[in-house]
Formats: sequence, C-alpha cells, structure tokens
Amino acid sequence: MTDKNRRGFIGKAFGAVAGVGAVASLYAMKKSWDPLPSVKAAGFTTLDMSGYKGNELITEKWRGKPVFVLKYTPEMVASLNDEQKKRVLKIGSDTYMIVLGLCTHLGCIPGYNPAEKAFLCACHGGTYDVTGNVTKAPPPRGLDIPPFKIVGNTIVLGEEGEEYKKLLADGITLSV
Ligand code: FES
Repeated sequence: MTDKNRRGFIGKAFGAVAGVGAVASLYAMKKSWDPLPSVKAAGFTTLDMSGYKGNELITEKWRGKPVFVLKYTPEMVASLNDEQKKRVLKIGSDTYMIVLGLCTHLGCIPGYNPAEKAFLCACHGGTYDVTGNVTKAPPPRGLDIPPFKIVGNTIVLGEEGEEYKKLLADGITLSV
C-alpha cells in the first residue's frame, strides 16, 4: 500500500467510526427526548364509575392534579336548576360532577360540605355550589372540567370526547 493509499484507507476508517458514533449519539439523544412510557400512560386516567356513592366526594388524580368526582343522589339531581344541569355529566343512568379540585382564584383545594352540598375555599373564602359554579367571589369562574371521554360506564380523563367538546363550545368550561 502506498502512503497515499494508506492515508485514504485510514481516512475512510475514521469516517466510518465517526459515522457510527454520530448515529449512536443521535439515537441516545432521541431516547432522552422521548417521554418515558410511564409519562405517556400518565396522560390518561380511566375511572370505573361503578364504585362511587351518592353525595360522597372522591378525589382522583389526573396529570398530578386533584379531580373531584361527586355522584349525585336522586334527590340532588331533582334539585338541580337549569344552570347547574349544564355542568353535570350523565354516565350510564347516573349523574356526576367531575371537576378539577383547584380553586380558580389562586389554586387552593376547596373542601366539600356534604350537609350543605357546597364547596368552600378556605384560602380567601370563595364558595362553589354542588356543581362547581361560583356562589361567592373571589374565584372568577366555576371549577374547571378536565377533558374527558365517556366510554360505557367508564370515563377517560385526558381525552376530548363529544360531551366535553360541547361544554367547551358552550363556554361552560375552559380548556385546561
Ligand atoms: S384560592 Fe380559593 S378563594 Fe382564593
């Protein structure tokens, strides 16, 4: 092999090694950019609605945020006015309130009083009715409704189903 040929061979060999290295590091970078499988799965929360009891507030979790689920008793359903009916969800034969459990004022977690069927945010005294509508300022709006899709007797939080899109279009809730 002449000197010139040797230099050419060494150059190609280095080029090949550098190319493999570049592909390997690109792959490693892509892997570090991709969300972990657990993060992908955490985007959606499926709730089986068969276990909830009337007038018992349960706090679920979706994307690290509290989600209030309140199943209404038949008496509670009968007492809802037209404004309140716009915010409730029908799943199977039952009616629920499903909202983010974060006050729309500054994000405190309101408490539910089952006897009064109302929420009080202790931070600045804001109150909400049994459907999450504001009844006393300072909260600027009702409790936000997370994206949801009703699938049989389950609800998938994080997916935008037809019922949720209608609530958004009617201005009943904001996109969160
Ligand atoms: S954070 Fe709820 S009233 Fe201020």
